[in-house]
Amino acid sequence: MSEIDALLREDRSFEPSAEFRAGAHVTDPEVYARAEKDPEAFWEAFARELDWTAPWTRVLDWKPPHAQWFVDGKINASANCLDRHIGTWRRNKAAFIWEGEPGDRRTLTYFDLYRQVCQFANVLKDLGVGKGDRVALYMPLVPELAIAMLACARIGAVHSVVFGGFSAESLRDRINDAQARLLVTADGGYRRGAIVPLKKMADEALAETPSIEHVVVVRRGYADIPVHMKEGRDRWYHELMDGAPITCPAEPMDAEDMLYILYTSGTTGKPKGIVHTTGGYLVGVYATTKWVFDLRDDDVFWCTADIGWVTGHSYVVYGPLTNGATVVMYEGAPDWPEKDRFWQIVERYGVTILYTAPTAIRAFMRWGTQWPAKRDLSSLRLLGSVGEPINPEAWVWYHLNVGGSRCPVVDTWWQTETGCILITPLPGITRTKPGSATQPFPGITAQVLSEKGVPVQVGGGLLALTRPWPAMLRGIYGDPERYVTQYWSRWSPDVYFTGDGAKLDEDGYYWLLGRVDDVLNVAGHRIGTMEVESALVDHPKVAESAVVGRPHQIKGHALCAFVTVKEGVHLSEGLADELKAHVAHKIGAIARPDDIIFAADLPKTRSGKIMRRLLRDIAEGKALGDTTTLADPSVVARLRDQYQDEA
Ligand code: WT7
Repeated sequence: MSEIDALLREDRSFEPSAEFRAGAHVTDPEVYARAEKDPEAFWEAFARELDWTAPWTRVLDWKPPHAQWFVDGKINASANCLDRHIGTWRRNKAAFIWEGEPGDRRTLTYFDLYRQVCQFANVLKDLGVGKGDRVALYMPLVPELAIAMLACARIGAVHSVVFGGFSAESLRDRINDAQARLLVTADGGYRRGAIVPLKKMADEALAETPSIEHVVVVRRGYADIPVHMKEGRDRWYHELMDGAPITCPAEPMDAEDMLYILYTSGTTGKPKGIVHTTGGYLVGVYATTKWVFDLRDDDVFWCTADIGWVTGHSYVVYGPLTNGATVVMYEGAPDWPEKDRFWQIVERYGVTILYTAPTAIRAFMRWGTQWPAKRDLSSLRLLGSVGEPINPEAWVWYHLNVGGSRCPVVDTWWQTETGCILITPLPGITRTKPGSATQPFPGITAQVLSEKGVPVQVGGGLLALTRPWPAMLRGIYGDPERYVTQYWSRWSPDVYFTGDGAKLDEDGYYWLLGRVDDVLNVAGHRIGTMEVESALVDHPKVAESAVVGRPHQIKGHALCAFVTVKEGVHLSEGLADELKAHVAHKIGAIARPDDIIFAADLPKTRSGKIMRRLLRDIAEGKALGDTTTLADPSVVARLRDQYQDEA
């Protein structure tokens, strides 16, 4: 536990500056007490700031573990992102300022976005997509991805965005799980100067997706790559949009109608389709964007996440657009063509709020202060962090070298399942401590519980949420039982188990300690160990595998795979590379193991359970002085014997 103790010895703290506080939306700590007293009224006040076509009759109907928010209310997400603003002075305000990796740029105003969303909504209707139908989106980070999401929302179709870095097989499985009728993809996208051939990968997936009737292909300007268009199935986006009517009524959706499905990794080999509905989700992302980022009309908001993850759904699309914000979108890598690309973008567009991940911050640290120092970052007034625990050194580096010591840093904890930020500072109120996400957002109740469910006052335990919140997931697509067992069965049906460990300090601050289940967080991406293990044993030479995480300076964790091979297979460096490539091909590059360790057998307890603790210690180099001895596959077995003797 030394890591945790070191974290808790962190005693630096930062008050919001008088200057920041003077202009902030929320400065009265009373908001916490008021929300605590009547959380439903607290959320209802935010709901009233949105546009509804029919009012709700009750704020919350809670039959644990099933919640309905804003019961009977009718609302459309696309109308709240667009129509709500085009009747105001925001009509010609920039909604998206987009920059492609090769340097191409586009700006879409709210009015532009509205028209294009309406047009694409009409295209979808023409292709037979209707309310409740699922539409899969497999795209680079281009405005058309947001347009397609909002077009789905406009007509009541359910989008399922699949991150463009996932493999053909991952795409296929997600399409089939959701039974999507239509796929929107692109010829390709850019990553570090190379073109990711999305349509080609989609074609591979489409060979085994019988539910797909139509494919719409966006031509990504520069991507000069051959694309095969299948007659009768595949259509070009620009051809369909040409001449499509520029208005389309927004379908009044029930507050509890599904808005989207987003797949995320869990403790089994199969990703879960997290279901979010319309009303509560919008209220959650609207409220948190406004308060956590202290959003104002003259802000330029840049959340660097890809839209393929929940962070992009909530804080590139739905949260900022419901607030009428100007959003920066950048397609590519932070070190392309140079390591100051992010700072160049901040300078070029006068970004005022930057929201990024600790893994990126740690990479910036390694690259050195000369890169941010080269650019004018004085427009920044607030910094955010998300995705994994941020180590205090990275927090302080970010504060100093990016925020020029004047910007509050909000470390925001949440999950795909929670829909919006739940544990976070409020920048005009909270005294921050580097490494702590501080306190639950008003209206949210969290607890640190022991294994047995006893609340911990000061100390470590498991993070639980003890009251429903509007943006919470409503289920796992097609698997109602797993929803209950996965999240609401650890202690009691009204207590949500996050899967995270946490520690509470004397001031009631939360320190997130990472996953306690078989989920790893690698460079801010959630990866199920079982998924990687399944991909490995799918290789003809592999007999068995166990995957664990080991601490990594930049990525937080690295993936370390222990592998036993089948009889007669010759071990070599070449085989390790082959296995890594195999996993990348099966799942996507984000799941490529960093290490492959061959073992004669996997260390198991007498009852046959894999000794993951030992494997983690080996991966970290704790159980071994010298990792090179691992070239001998019998080493792991000898360590097991030693471990068992000591235990
Ligand atoms: C897991 C959720 C929700 C945004 C992106 C990730 C970890 C997220 C923090 C933070 C410590 C964090 C948790 C969580 N996590 N934010 N600020 N401090 N840990 O979404 O892929 O659903 O992953 O990310 O372990 O359970 P996700």
